[in-house]
Amino acid sequence: MKLIIINGPNLNLLGKREPEIYGASSFETYFETLKNTFQNVTLSYYQSNIEGEIIDKLHEVGFDYDGVILNAAAYTHTSVGIGDAVKAIESPVIEVHISNVHSREEFRHTSFIAPNAKGVISGFGLQSYDLAIQSFL
Ligand code: DQA
Repeated sequence: MKLIIINGPNLNLLGKREPEIYGASSFETYFETLKNTFQNVTLSYYQSNIEGEIIDKLHEVGFDYDGVILNAAAYTHTSVGIGDAVKAIESPVIEVHISNVHSREEFRHTSFIAPNAKGVISGFGLQSYDLAIQSFL
C-alpha cells in the first residue's frame, strides 16, 4: 500500500504557527510517528506553499499511488485548480484538516476538494492524518 500525504501552504510552520489551533508538534516529528505506526504502508510526504506545485504533485502520484491524503490548507477554500486535479486523477483522495473547519470562519466551510474526495476528516488534530491512513487499510 503506497500512500502520500500532501500538505499545502503554511503547514511547514506546524509547531510554530497558532499552536492553540494546530498543536505544538512539527509535521516532520509527527511523520516519524506515523511511519512507525504504519510500518506496512509505504508512506511519503510532500509540502508546498505553491498551488501549481501541489497540482503537479497530484498529477505525478495520482495514477500510481493507492491513495492521497491531502491537506490543501487555505487552498481548500479557494482553488478550483486543485479541485479539478483531484477530479482528474485516479487515486482516491481523502481531504484532511487538523482543525474543525466547520466550527471556524464561514469562508472555511467551502471546499473545492470535498466534492471529488473519497471522504473528509476534519478536527482531530494531527490524528486526522492517522485516521485517514486507517481509512485506506
Ligand atoms: C487547515 C484549515 C484551513 O482552513 C487553514 O487555512 C489551514 C489549515 C487545517 O488543517 O485545519 O491552513 O487546513
